[in-house]
Amino acid sequence: MSEGMATVSYIGATILFILSLGGLSNPETSRRGNLYGMIGMALAVVATVFGPRVSPAGIGWILGAMAVGGSIGLYAARTVQMTQMPELVALMHSLVGLAAMLVGFASYVNPASSATFTGVEKTIHEAEIYIGILIGAVTFSGSVIAFGKLSGKIGGKPLLLPARHWLNLAGLLVVLWVGRLFLNAHSIPQGMTPLIIMTVIALLFGIHMVMAIGGADMPVVVSMLNSYSGWAAAATGFMLSNDLLIVTGALVGSSGAILSYIMCKAMNRHFISVIAGGFGTGDGAPAAAAGAQPAGEVSPISGVETAELLREAKSVIIVPGYGMAVAQAQHTVFEITKHLREKGVKVRFGIHPVAGRMPGHMNVLLAEAKVPYDIVMEMDEINEDFPDTDVAMVIGANDIVNPAAQDDPSSPIAGMPVLEVWKAHTSVVMKRSMASGYAGVDNPLFYKDNNRMLFGDARKMLDEVLAALRA
Ligand code: TAP
Repeated sequence: MSEGMATVSYIGATILFILSLGGLSNPETSRRGNLYGMIGMALAVVATVFGPRVSPAGIGWILGAMAVGGSIGLYAARTVQMTQMPELVALMHSLVGLAAMLVGFASYVNPASSATFTGVEKTIHEAEIYIGILIGAVTFSGSVIAFGKLSGKIGGKPLLLPARHWLNLAGLLVVLWVGRLFLNAHSIPQGMTPLIIMTVIALLFGIHMVMAIGGADMPVVVSMLNSYSGWAAAATGFMLSNDLLIVTGALVGSSGAILSYIMCKAMNRHFISVIAGGFGTGDGAPAAAAGAQPAGEVSPISGVETAELLREAKSVIIVPGYGMAVAQAQHTVFEITKHLREKGVKVRFGIHPVAGRMPGHMNVLLAEAKVPYDIVMEMDEINEDFPDTDVAMVIGANDIVNPAAQDDPSSPIAGMPVLEVWKAHTSVVMKRSMASGYAGVDNPLFYKDNNRMLFGDARKMLDEVLAALRA
Protein backbone atom coordinates (compact mmCIF):
# COMPACT_ATOMS: atom_id res chain seq x y z
CA MET A 1 0.00 0.00 0.00
CA SER A 2 1.34 3.43 -0.95
CA GLU A 3 1.97 6.25 1.55
CA GLY A 4 -1.01 8.18 0.10
CA MET A 5 -3.38 5.23 0.43
CA ALA A 6 -2.28 4.67 4.01
CA THR A 7 -2.91 8.35 4.87
CA VAL A 8 -6.38 8.26 3.31
CA SER A 9 -7.17 5.07 5.25
CA TYR A 10 -5.94 6.72 8.47
CA ILE A 11 -8.19 9.74 7.91
CA GLY A 12 -11.12 7.40 7.19
CA ALA A 13 -10.39 5.45 10.39
CA THR A 14 -10.18 8.67 12.43
CA ILE A 15 -13.60 9.80 11.14
CA LEU A 16 -15.07 6.38 11.94
CA PHE A 17 -13.65 6.54 15.49
CA ILE A 18 -15.24 9.95 16.06
CA LEU A 19 -18.58 8.69 14.68
CA SER A 20 -18.21 5.65 16.93
CA LEU A 21 -17.78 7.78 20.06
CA GLY A 22 -20.76 9.89 19.01
CA GLY A 23 -22.88 6.75 18.56
CA LEU A 24 -21.87 5.29 21.90
CA SER A 25 -23.28 8.28 23.76
CA ASN A 26 -26.84 7.02 23.34
CA PRO A 27 -28.21 3.47 23.83
CA GLU A 28 -30.30 3.71 20.66
CA THR A 29 -27.29 4.47 18.45
CA SER A 30 -24.70 2.47 20.36
CA ARG A 31 -24.85 -0.61 18.11
CA ARG A 32 -24.12 1.56 15.10
CA GLY A 33 -21.37 3.30 17.10
CA ASN A 34 -19.77 -0.06 17.84
CA LEU A 35 -19.93 -1.04 14.19
CA TYR A 36 -18.21 2.21 13.13
CA GLY A 37 -15.49 1.53 15.69
CA MET A 38 -14.95 -2.02 14.43
CA ILE A 39 -14.74 -0.95 10.77
CA GLY A 40 -12.42 1.94 11.72
CA MET A 41 -10.10 -0.38 13.64
CA ALA A 42 -10.05 -2.98 10.84
CA LEU A 43 -9.16 -0.22 8.37
CA ALA A 44 -6.43 1.10 10.68
CA VAL A 45 -4.87 -2.33 11.19
CA VAL A 46 -4.90 -3.19 7.47
CA ALA A 47 -3.45 0.21 6.51
CA THR A 48 -0.68 -0.16 9.10
CA VAL A 49 0.26 -3.79 8.47
CA PHE A 50 0.25 -3.43 4.70
CA GLY A 51 1.43 0.18 4.78
CA PRO A 52 4.76 1.55 3.60
CA ARG A 53 6.47 1.30 6.99
CA VAL A 54 6.28 -2.48 7.37
CA SER A 55 8.74 -4.52 5.32
CA PRO A 56 7.31 -7.60 3.56
CA ALA A 57 9.56 -9.80 5.73
CA GLY A 58 7.89 -8.42 8.87
CA ILE A 59 4.29 -9.09 7.76
CA GLY A 60 4.49 -12.80 8.62
CA TRP A 61 5.58 -12.00 12.18
CA ILE A 62 2.82 -9.44 12.62
CA LEU A 63 0.13 -11.77 11.30
CA GLY A 64 1.41 -14.55 13.58
CA ALA A 65 1.32 -12.24 16.63
CA MET A 66 -2.16 -11.03 15.63
CA ALA A 67 -3.43 -14.62 15.38
CA VAL A 68 -2.12 -15.43 18.89
CA GLY A 69 -3.30 -12.14 20.48
CA GLY A 70 -6.63 -12.21 18.62
CA SER A 71 -7.35 -15.79 19.75
CA ILE A 72 -6.62 -14.95 23.40
CA GLY A 73 -8.82 -11.82 23.14
CA LEU A 74 -11.64 -13.73 21.47
CA TYR A 75 -11.50 -16.47 24.10
CA ALA A 76 -11.45 -13.93 26.97
CA ALA A 77 -14.35 -11.91 25.54
CA ARG A 78 -16.48 -15.00 24.96
CA THR A 79 -15.92 -16.58 28.35
CA VAL A 80 -15.99 -13.49 30.59
CA GLN A 81 -19.10 -13.07 32.74
CA MET A 82 -20.87 -9.73 32.48
CA THR A 83 -20.03 -9.09 36.14
CA GLN A 84 -16.30 -9.61 35.40
CA MET A 85 -16.21 -7.01 32.62
CA PRO A 86 -14.57 -4.24 34.70
CA GLU A 87 -11.73 -6.61 35.63
CA LEU A 88 -11.22 -7.54 32.00
CA VAL A 89 -11.22 -3.87 31.01
CA ALA A 90 -8.62 -3.10 33.72
CA LEU A 91 -6.46 -5.96 32.45
CA MET A 92 -6.73 -4.65 28.87
CA HIS A 93 -5.66 -1.18 30.03
CA SER A 94 -2.59 -2.73 31.63
CA LEU A 95 -1.63 -4.17 28.23
CA VAL A 96 -1.79 -0.71 26.61
CA GLY A 97 0.53 0.59 29.34
CA LEU A 98 2.91 -2.36 28.93
CA ALA A 99 2.97 -1.82 25.15
CA ALA A 100 3.84 1.88 25.61
CA MET A 101 6.69 0.93 27.95
CA LEU A 102 8.10 -1.72 25.62
CA VAL A 103 7.81 0.52 22.54
CA GLY A 104 9.61 3.26 24.51
CA PHE A 105 12.57 1.06 25.43
CA ALA A 106 12.68 -0.41 21.92
CA SER A 107 12.69 3.09 20.35
CA TYR A 108 15.51 4.16 22.64
CA VAL A 109 17.83 1.25 21.90
CA ASN A 110 16.92 1.11 18.20
CA PRO A 111 20.11 2.12 16.35
CA ALA A 112 18.05 3.35 13.38
CA SER A 113 16.26 5.99 15.44
CA SER A 114 19.45 7.32 17.03
CA ALA A 115 20.86 7.66 13.53
CA THR A 116 17.69 9.42 12.23
CA PHE A 117 17.43 12.10 14.91
CA THR A 118 20.05 14.73 15.71
CA GLY A 119 20.10 18.00 17.67
CA VAL A 120 16.72 19.34 18.81
CA GLU A 121 14.86 16.53 17.05
CA LYS A 122 16.82 13.99 19.08
CA THR A 123 15.92 15.79 22.33
CA ILE A 124 12.23 15.88 21.35
CA HIS A 125 12.29 12.19 20.41
CA GLU A 126 13.93 11.30 23.73
CA ALA A 127 11.44 13.42 25.67
CA GLU A 128 8.64 11.52 23.88
CA ILE A 129 10.25 8.25 24.91
CA TYR A 130 10.64 9.39 28.52
CA ILE A 131 7.05 10.63 28.85
CA GLY A 132 5.69 7.60 26.96
CA ILE A 133 7.41 5.13 29.28
CA LEU A 134 6.33 7.19 32.33
CA ILE A 135 2.63 7.16 31.39
CA GLY A 136 2.86 3.54 30.22
CA ALA A 137 4.43 2.35 33.49
CA VAL A 138 1.86 4.15 35.69
CA THR A 139 -0.98 2.77 33.53
CA PHE A 140 0.48 -0.74 33.58
CA SER A 141 1.05 -1.17 37.32
CA GLY A 142 -2.07 0.85 38.29
CA SER A 143 -4.26 -1.29 36.04
CA VAL A 144 -2.81 -4.54 37.36
CA ILE A 145 -3.64 -3.43 40.93
CA ALA A 146 -7.12 -2.28 39.80
CA PHE A 147 -7.62 -5.73 38.25
CA GLY A 148 -6.57 -7.32 41.56
CA LYS A 149 -8.94 -5.14 43.56
CA LEU A 150 -11.92 -5.54 41.23
CA SER A 151 -11.51 -9.32 41.08
CA GLY A 152 -11.16 -9.54 44.87
CA LYS A 153 -7.58 -10.89 44.66
CA ILE A 154 -6.43 -7.80 46.57
CA GLY A 155 -8.51 -6.48 49.50
CA GLY A 156 -10.67 -3.40 48.91
CA LYS A 157 -9.36 -1.53 51.96
CA PRO A 158 -7.23 1.51 51.10
CA LEU A 159 -3.52 1.20 51.90
CA LEU A 160 -2.56 4.51 53.43
CA LEU A 161 1.18 4.90 53.89
CA PRO A 162 2.23 7.66 56.29
CA ALA A 163 3.11 10.87 54.42
CA ARG A 164 1.91 9.31 51.18
CA HIS A 165 1.51 12.66 49.40
CA TRP A 166 5.11 13.57 50.31
CA LEU A 167 6.25 10.21 48.94
CA ASN A 168 4.45 10.96 45.68
CA LEU A 169 5.98 14.44 45.55
CA ALA A 170 9.47 13.06 46.22
CA GLY A 171 8.91 10.53 43.43
CA LEU A 172 7.88 13.32 41.07
CA LEU A 173 11.00 15.37 41.89
CA VAL A 174 13.28 12.36 41.30
CA VAL A 175 11.52 11.68 37.98
CA LEU A 176 12.14 15.30 36.90
CA TRP A 177 15.78 15.15 38.03
CA VAL A 178 16.62 11.87 36.31
CA GLY A 179 14.71 13.12 33.26
CA ARG A 180 17.32 15.87 32.97
CA LEU A 181 20.12 13.31 33.28
CA PHE A 182 18.43 11.18 30.62
CA LEU A 183 18.13 14.04 28.13
CA ASN A 184 21.75 15.04 28.72
CA ALA A 185 23.12 11.50 28.36
CA HIS A 186 25.72 11.06 25.61
CA SER A 187 25.22 7.38 24.94
CA ILE A 188 22.49 4.77 25.17
CA PRO A 189 24.09 2.91 28.13
CA GLN A 190 24.47 6.24 29.97
CA GLY A 191 20.80 7.11 29.39
CA MET A 192 19.60 3.66 30.37
CA THR A 193 20.19 4.13 34.12
CA PRO A 194 17.98 7.23 34.55
CA LEU A 195 15.37 5.61 32.26
CA ILE A 196 15.24 2.50 34.43
CA ILE A 197 15.13 4.57 37.68
CA MET A 198 12.17 6.55 36.32
CA THR A 199 10.40 3.35 35.17
CA VAL A 200 10.73 1.78 38.63
CA ILE A 201 9.39 4.97 40.30
CA ALA A 202 6.49 5.17 37.83
CA LEU A 203 5.62 1.50 38.43
CA LEU A 204 5.69 2.05 42.21
CA PHE A 205 3.59 5.21 41.84
CA GLY A 206 0.94 3.31 39.84
CA ILE A 207 0.79 0.64 42.56
CA HIS A 208 0.70 3.22 45.37
CA MET A 209 -1.95 5.37 43.67
CA VAL A 210 -4.47 2.56 43.21
CA MET A 211 -3.66 0.76 46.49
CA ALA A 212 -4.55 4.00 48.34
CA ILE A 213 -8.05 4.07 46.87
CA GLY A 214 -11.00 2.83 48.89
CA GLY A 215 -13.36 0.23 47.43
CA ALA A 216 -16.23 2.64 46.85
CA ASP A 217 -14.09 4.88 44.68
CA MET A 218 -12.90 2.17 42.29
CA PRO A 219 -15.29 3.16 39.46
CA VAL A 220 -13.53 6.47 39.09
CA VAL A 221 -10.18 4.69 39.02
CA VAL A 222 -11.33 2.39 36.22
CA SER A 223 -12.40 5.30 34.03
CA MET A 224 -9.26 7.26 34.98
CA LEU A 225 -7.03 4.34 33.96
CA ASN A 226 -9.05 4.19 30.75
CA SER A 227 -8.02 7.79 30.16
CA TYR A 228 -4.37 7.06 31.08
CA SER A 229 -4.32 4.15 28.64
CA GLY A 230 -5.43 6.57 25.91
CA TRP A 231 -2.60 8.96 26.72
CA ALA A 232 -0.18 6.00 26.80
CA ALA A 233 -1.35 5.05 23.29
CA ALA A 234 -0.95 8.67 22.13
CA ALA A 235 2.58 8.71 23.58
CA THR A 236 3.32 5.49 21.66
CA GLY A 237 2.03 7.28 18.54
CA PHE A 238 4.55 10.09 19.11
CA MET A 239 7.40 7.61 19.62
CA LEU A 240 6.52 5.75 16.43
CA SER A 241 5.55 8.93 14.51
CA ASN A 242 2.16 7.34 13.83
CA ASP A 243 -0.51 10.03 13.43
CA LEU A 244 -3.46 7.65 13.75
CA LEU A 245 -2.21 6.31 17.07
CA ILE A 246 -1.80 9.87 18.36
CA VAL A 247 -5.35 10.84 17.34
CA THR A 248 -6.91 7.59 18.60
CA GLY A 249 -5.00 7.78 21.88
CA ALA A 250 -6.08 11.39 22.36
CA LEU A 251 -9.72 10.42 21.68
CA VAL A 252 -9.58 7.63 24.28
CA GLY A 253 -7.63 9.81 26.70
CA SER A 254 -9.99 12.76 26.53
CA SER A 255 -13.22 10.74 26.48
CA GLY A 256 -11.89 8.76 29.48
CA ALA A 257 -11.13 12.04 31.25
CA ILE A 258 -14.66 13.32 30.56
CA LEU A 259 -16.10 10.04 31.84
CA SER A 260 -13.93 10.29 34.97
CA TYR A 261 -15.26 13.82 35.52
CA ILE A 262 -18.88 12.61 35.17
CA MET A 263 -18.19 9.73 37.58
CA CYS A 264 -16.52 12.09 40.07
CA LYS A 265 -19.61 14.28 39.99
CA ALA A 266 -21.85 11.22 40.43
CA MET A 267 -19.86 10.22 43.50
CA ASN A 268 -19.20 13.73 44.79
CA ARG A 269 -15.41 13.41 44.51
CA HIS A 270 -12.95 16.04 43.39
CA PHE A 271 -11.31 15.39 40.04
CA ILE A 272 -7.92 16.78 41.11
CA SER A 273 -7.72 14.62 44.22
CA VAL A 274 -8.55 11.61 42.04
CA ILE A 275 -5.63 12.36 39.75
CA ALA A 276 -3.34 12.81 42.75
CA GLY A 277 -4.40 9.39 44.06
CA GLY A 278 -5.26 8.43 47.62
CA PHE A 279 -8.69 10.01 47.34
CA GLY A 280 -11.99 9.00 48.81
CA THR A 281 -10.45 8.09 52.10
CA GLY A 282 -11.03 11.44 53.79
CA ASP A 283 -10.12 10.97 57.40
CA GLY A 284 -8.24 7.80 56.62
CA ALA A 285 -10.80 5.47 58.17
CA PRO A 286 -11.22 2.22 56.29
CA ALA A 287 -14.63 2.03 54.64
CA ALA A 288 -16.33 -0.59 56.76
CA ALA A 289 -15.31 0.84 60.13
CA ALA A 290 -16.80 4.30 59.83
CA GLY A 291 -20.40 5.44 60.03
CA ALA A 292 -23.01 5.09 62.73
CA GLN A 293 -24.56 1.64 62.85
CA PRO A 294 -28.27 1.84 62.12
CA ALA A 295 -30.40 -0.15 64.52
CA GLY A 296 -33.90 -1.57 64.57
CA GLU A 297 -36.03 -4.28 63.11
CA VAL A 298 -36.47 -4.98 59.43
CA SER A 299 -39.85 -5.96 57.99
CA PRO A 300 -39.60 -8.93 55.63
CA ILE A 301 -42.09 -9.42 52.82
CA SER A 302 -42.87 -12.42 50.58
CA GLY A 303 -42.99 -12.62 46.80
CA VAL A 304 -46.79 -12.96 46.85
CA GLU A 305 -47.16 -9.89 49.10
CA THR A 306 -44.83 -7.92 46.82
CA ALA A 307 -47.00 -8.85 43.85
CA GLU A 308 -50.01 -7.62 45.84
CA LEU A 309 -48.29 -4.27 46.47
CA LEU A 310 -47.38 -3.91 42.81
CA ARG A 311 -50.88 -4.81 41.63
CA GLU A 312 -52.38 -2.06 43.76
CA ALA A 313 -49.77 0.54 42.76
CA LYS A 314 -50.39 3.28 40.20
CA SER A 315 -46.73 4.16 39.80
CA VAL A 316 -43.63 2.05 40.33
CA ILE A 317 -39.93 2.92 40.08
CA ILE A 318 -37.49 0.02 39.72
CA VAL A 319 -33.91 0.64 40.91
CA PRO A 320 -31.55 -2.07 39.68
CA GLY A 321 -28.07 -2.62 41.08
CA TYR A 322 -25.17 -5.03 41.01
CA GLY A 323 -27.30 -7.88 42.44
CA MET A 324 -29.55 -7.81 39.36
CA ALA A 325 -26.45 -8.41 37.23
CA VAL A 326 -25.28 -11.26 39.49
CA ALA A 327 -28.70 -12.91 39.43
CA GLN A 328 -29.16 -12.19 35.68
CA ALA A 329 -32.68 -11.10 36.63
CA GLN A 330 -33.12 -8.49 33.88
CA HIS A 331 -35.37 -10.68 31.70
CA THR A 332 -37.78 -11.39 34.57
CA VAL A 333 -37.67 -7.69 35.45
CA PHE A 334 -38.80 -6.95 31.90
CA GLU A 335 -41.61 -9.53 32.08
CA ILE A 336 -42.88 -7.92 35.30
CA THR A 337 -42.60 -4.46 33.75
CA LYS A 338 -44.56 -5.58 30.68
CA HIS A 339 -47.26 -7.18 32.82
CA LEU A 340 -47.68 -4.10 35.02
CA ARG A 341 -47.72 -1.71 32.06
CA GLU A 342 -50.42 -3.79 30.38
CA LYS A 343 -52.46 -3.34 33.57
CA GLY A 344 -52.01 0.43 33.35
CA VAL A 345 -49.33 0.83 36.03
CA LYS A 346 -46.74 3.54 35.31
CA VAL A 347 -43.39 1.75 35.53
CA ARG A 348 -40.03 3.48 35.19
CA PHE A 349 -36.41 2.64 35.97
CA GLY A 350 -34.05 4.81 38.02
CA ILE A 351 -30.42 4.35 37.03
CA HIS A 352 -27.58 5.55 39.25
CA PRO A 353 -24.42 6.52 37.33
CA VAL A 354 -22.30 4.02 39.30
CA ALA A 355 -24.86 1.23 39.72
CA GLY A 356 -23.26 -2.18 39.17
CA ARG A 357 -19.57 -2.44 38.47
CA MET A 358 -18.99 -0.44 35.31
CA PRO A 359 -20.34 2.68 33.63
CA GLY A 360 -23.60 1.89 31.86
CA HIS A 361 -23.78 -1.60 33.42
CA MET A 362 -27.52 -1.42 34.13
CA ASN A 363 -28.35 0.22 30.79
CA VAL A 364 -26.61 -2.63 28.95
CA LEU A 365 -28.51 -5.30 30.91
CA LEU A 366 -31.87 -3.58 30.47
CA ALA A 367 -31.24 -3.04 26.75
CA GLU A 368 -30.36 -6.75 26.45
CA ALA A 369 -33.74 -7.58 28.04
CA LYS A 370 -35.44 -5.19 25.56
CA VAL A 371 -36.72 -2.72 28.17
CA PRO A 372 -37.86 0.37 26.20
CA TYR A 373 -35.31 3.21 26.49
CA ASP A 374 -37.93 5.85 27.19
CA ILE A 375 -38.79 4.41 30.63
CA VAL A 376 -35.14 4.15 31.69
CA MET A 377 -34.32 7.38 33.54
CA GLU A 378 -31.10 8.84 34.87
CA MET A 379 -30.90 9.55 38.60
CA ASP A 380 -31.29 13.33 38.16
CA GLU A 381 -34.37 12.89 35.98
CA ILE A 382 -36.25 10.70 38.43
CA ASN A 383 -35.10 11.54 41.95
CA GLU A 384 -37.80 14.17 42.47
CA ASP A 385 -40.56 11.70 41.56
CA PHE A 386 -40.13 9.29 44.49
CA PRO A 387 -42.55 11.15 46.83
CA ASP A 388 -45.31 10.63 44.20
CA THR A 389 -44.46 6.96 43.71
CA ASP A 390 -46.37 4.09 45.30
CA VAL A 391 -43.69 1.41 45.18
CA ALA A 392 -39.92 1.75 44.73
CA MET A 393 -38.54 -1.70 43.95
CA VAL A 394 -34.80 -2.04 44.64
CA ILE A 395 -33.34 -5.07 42.88
CA GLY A 396 -29.91 -6.07 44.21
CA ALA A 397 -28.82 -2.47 44.83
CA ASN A 398 -27.40 -1.21 48.09
CA ASP A 399 -24.85 1.67 48.15
CA ILE A 400 -26.72 3.67 45.51
CA VAL A 401 -29.87 3.81 47.69
CA ASN A 402 -28.13 4.39 51.04
CA PRO A 403 -29.62 7.39 52.90
CA ALA A 404 -26.45 7.57 55.06
CA ALA A 405 -24.82 9.32 52.09
CA GLN A 406 -27.10 12.28 52.88
CA ASP A 407 -27.64 11.93 56.64
CA ASP A 408 -24.32 10.75 58.06
CA PRO A 409 -21.32 13.04 57.42
CA SER A 410 -18.95 10.42 58.88
CA SER A 411 -20.03 7.76 56.37
CA PRO A 412 -17.40 6.77 53.77
CA ILE A 413 -20.01 7.47 51.10
CA ALA A 414 -21.08 10.84 52.60
CA GLY A 415 -21.97 13.31 49.89
CA MET A 416 -22.45 10.70 47.14
CA PRO A 417 -25.77 11.44 45.41
CA VAL A 418 -28.19 8.54 45.89
CA LEU A 419 -31.62 7.49 44.62
CA GLU A 420 -34.08 8.55 47.32
CA VAL A 421 -36.22 5.40 47.29
CA TRP A 422 -37.24 5.86 50.96
CA LYS A 423 -39.38 8.83 49.89
CA ALA A 424 -41.72 6.51 47.97
CA HIS A 425 -44.87 5.36 49.73
CA THR A 426 -43.34 1.89 50.15
CA SER A 427 -39.89 0.62 49.18
CA VAL A 428 -39.08 -3.05 48.67
CA VAL A 429 -35.43 -4.09 48.80
CA MET A 430 -34.61 -7.38 47.12
CA LYS A 431 -31.36 -9.02 48.26
CA ARG A 432 -30.20 -12.27 49.79
CA SER A 433 -29.14 -11.12 53.25
CA MET A 434 -28.36 -8.08 55.38
CA ALA A 435 -24.83 -8.00 53.90
CA SER A 436 -23.39 -4.63 52.91
CA GLY A 437 -22.66 -3.56 49.34
CA TYR A 438 -19.41 -2.69 47.57
CA ALA A 439 -18.51 0.18 49.88
CA GLY A 440 -18.84 -2.07 52.94
CA VAL A 441 -21.24 0.23 54.83
CA ASP A 442 -24.49 -0.65 56.57
CA ASN A 443 -27.68 0.71 55.04
CA PRO A 444 -30.26 2.50 57.28
CA LEU A 445 -32.84 2.19 54.47
CA PHE A 446 -33.45 -1.44 55.47
CA TYR A 447 -34.76 -0.37 58.90
CA LYS A 448 -37.14 2.35 57.76
CA ASP A 449 -40.84 1.91 58.63
CA ASN A 450 -41.99 2.09 55.02
CA ASN A 451 -39.34 -0.37 53.78
CA ARG A 452 -39.84 -4.10 53.24
CA MET A 453 -37.08 -6.67 52.70
CA LEU A 454 -37.65 -9.39 50.10
CA PHE A 455 -34.85 -11.80 50.99
CA GLY A 456 -33.54 -14.23 48.37
CA ASP A 457 -31.82 -14.44 45.00
CA ALA A 458 -33.23 -11.63 42.85
CA ARG A 459 -34.07 -13.93 39.93
CA LYS A 460 -35.83 -16.50 42.12
CA MET A 461 -37.80 -13.86 44.03
CA LEU A 462 -38.81 -12.03 40.85
CA ASP A 463 -39.97 -15.32 39.32
CA GLU A 464 -42.20 -15.75 42.38
CA VAL A 465 -43.50 -12.17 42.03
CA LEU A 466 -44.20 -12.69 38.33
CA ALA A 467 -46.00 -16.00 38.96
CA ALA A 468 -48.14 -14.33 41.65
CA LEU A 469 -48.91 -11.38 39.35
CA ARG A 470 -50.04 -13.72 36.58
CA ALA A 471 -52.07 -15.95 38.90
P1 TAP B 1 -23.74 -2.81 45.80
O1 TAP B 1 -23.75 -1.67 46.72
O2 TAP B 1 -22.48 -3.56 45.56
O3 TAP B 1 -24.86 -3.81 46.35
C1 TAP B 1 -25.25 -4.92 45.62
C2 TAP B 1 -26.14 -5.76 46.50
O4 TAP B 1 -26.64 -6.81 45.68
C3 TAP B 1 -25.40 -6.42 47.64
O5 TAP B 1 -25.63 -5.76 48.86
C4 TAP B 1 -25.89 -7.88 47.62
O6 TAP B 1 -26.52 -8.16 48.86
C5 TAP B 1 -26.92 -7.89 46.51
N1 TAP B 1 -26.83 -9.11 45.70
C6 TAP B 1 -25.73 -9.74 45.25
N2 TAP B 1 -26.06 -10.84 44.57
C7 TAP B 1 -27.41 -10.90 44.58
C8 TAP B 1 -28.35 -11.81 44.04
N3 TAP B 1 -27.98 -12.90 43.35
N4 TAP B 1 -29.68 -11.57 44.25
C9 TAP B 1 -30.07 -10.49 44.96
N5 TAP B 1 -29.21 -9.60 45.50
C10 TAP B 1 -27.90 -9.80 45.30
O7 TAP B 1 -24.29 -2.41 44.35
P2 TAP B 1 -24.94 -1.07 43.83
O8 TAP B 1 -26.00 -0.59 44.74
O9 TAP B 1 -25.25 -1.34 42.38
O10 TAP B 1 -23.78 0.01 43.94
C11 TAP B 1 -22.62 -0.09 43.16
C12 TAP B 1 -21.39 -0.03 44.04
O11 TAP B 1 -20.29 -0.53 43.30
C13 TAP B 1 -21.06 1.39 44.46
O12 TAP B 1 -20.45 1.38 45.74
C14 TAP B 1 -20.04 1.79 43.40
O13 TAP B 1 -19.18 2.81 43.83
C15 TAP B 1 -19.30 0.50 43.22
N6 TAP B 1 -18.63 0.33 41.93
C16 TAP B 1 -19.23 0.78 40.81
C17 TAP B 1 -18.60 0.68 39.59
C18 TAP B 1 -19.29 1.26 38.40
S1 TAP B 1 -18.46 2.01 37.32
N7 TAP B 1 -20.60 1.16 38.27
C19 TAP B 1 -17.34 0.05 39.50
C20 TAP B 1 -16.75 -0.47 40.67
C21 TAP B 1 -17.41 -0.31 41.88
P3 TAP B 1 -26.63 -9.68 49.37
O14 TAP B 1 -25.26 -10.21 49.41
O15 TAP B 1 -27.31 -9.57 50.71
O16 TAP B 1 -27.50 -10.39 48.37
